[in-house]
Amino acid sequence: MKEPTLLLIHGFPLDGRIWEKVTPKIRGASLIVPDLRGHGKSPLPPGPCTIDDYARDMLEVLKHSGVERFAAAGHSMGGYIVFAMLRLAPERISAAALVSSRALPDTEEGRKTREATAQRAEKEGPGFLAGTMPEKAVGDSPPPGVIDTLRKIIGEAQPQGVAAAARAMASRIDSTPHLGRIAVPTVVFAGRGDKIVPAAESEAMAKAIPGAKLVWCEKSGHVPMLEEPDLVAGELTSLLHRIR
Ligand code: MLT
Repeated sequence: MKEPTLLLIHGFPLDGRIWEKVTPKIRGASLIVPDLRGHGKSPLPPGPCTIDDYARDMLEVLKHSGVERFAAAGHSMGGYIVFAMLRLAPERISAAALVSSRALPDTEEGRKTREATAQRAEKEGPGFLAGTMPEKAVGDSPPPGVIDTLRKIIGEAQPQGVAAAARAMASRIDSTPHLGRIAVPTVVFAGRGDKIVPAAESEAMAKAIPGAKLVWCEKSGHVPMLEEPDLVAGELTSLLHRIR
């Protein structure tokens, strides 16, 4: 039987390198780990973009690789993209993993902060985020090197790509009404010490998805793929077994 394909989508303002500790530990799958448009090595097409645009990019990339049906894992903003794919092309998704993500949209206040972030990134580059985000993204005792990895990836981010992503997240829709319709094996990872997406929000989201498994990452903040890669890789491997 052909190996399943697993798409691993990074969050904001990161790139595919965020999965590097997890990918060597995932067994029995063909992995696709893209950089979203305007992130890592992927160029940003002109004009604004939405979460649905990122989702269409992903569906196109997989089609281009000859993959019709695949499992999709998304970290935080990557999870917003998984929700969009489940809405736009549910027949193509065989399983879903939501890592430190949320179904709720931004508040009005949150949208204002996103716009300020976008304008600042355009004006001065992503350096200010590299200074503040890594400490906020980790739990109380991150493994050595995690903060440095985050600092490096964020420091190398594309200013226009960061701005576009901040605006795309601000305009995303509420995925809560769609949770009950998710009909594929799903795993939700929640970092017990997540300071960006409160663990209670992940827990409520998992409860609203029929049959979803909630995995508590007890030693993690917002980036369990860096903080507890063995746990994340093991649970993703189990998820893939559930679609066989
Ligand atoms: C992410 O990690 O992708 C972002 O923190 C998500 C967000 O800000 O909503």
